Amino acid sequence: MKGIVFTEFLDMVEKKFGIEVVDHIINESKLQSDGVYTSVGTYDFVEMQSLLINLSKKVDIPLDGLIYNYGLYFFNVLTSVHPGIFALYKDPIELLSSIENHIHVQVRKLYPGAELPTFKIEKKNEDHLEILYFSERAMYMFAKALMEKTFEHYDQGSEIRLEKIEDDGTKVRFVISKKHGAYQQN
Ligand code: HEM
Repeated sequence: MKGIVFTEFLDMVEKKFGIEVVDHIINESKLQSDGVYTSVGTYDFVEMQSLLINLSKKVDIPLDGLIYNYGLYFFNVLTSVHPGIFALYKDPIELLSSIENHIHVQVRKLYPGAELPTFKIEKKNEDHLEILYFSERAMYMFAKALMEKTFEHYDQGSEIRLEKIEDDGTKVRFVISKKHGAYQQN
């Protein structure tokens, strides 16, 4: 997992819960990196899992909710670090259906060693997208947050439902619909 995912995560934890909580989860997690991350480095995903589990225990918020909130936060990082990629798309469904063949392809060049999910489009029209998510990291709540924020980025409302195909979340179907009418945040 890329260092930017760790550095931004720890920034978020500091902003939301304070530096003491950052220190606490780093100490509890017994990390090979000692909790020292550079944004261009690559670190073991197990470290992110331990940090999340210890944060969940410390602040008493379920893991899914923490990962979802981190996705909301990380989207803002993506739009500020990579505005050019977002500028290429005029529509959220076009953007989401291009992650696999365009966006994450660019990401692999920009972030060597990135561990990315695989997306497979099942159904697509201008108002609706069904897409399968595959990843051994099972970060489907992170994906859901990024998808919702993508719609918000284009001032559009969305309704995003997920169906776990594998119980452990390594294979998930997203059923995504545009919501017409006034922009509404989920
Ligand atoms: C400009 C747009 C984007 C950029 C630059 C980008 C970049 C990245 C980077 C750097 C990572 C971390 C890789 C690692 O830690 O090794 C990542 C992971 C991920 N990205 Fe993207 N991404 C973009 C858009 C999106 C969007 C719109 C989605 C929506 C679903 C998405 C879904 C994910 C997921 C779910 C992961 C977590 C890894 C996993 O599930 O296995 N990305 N992305």
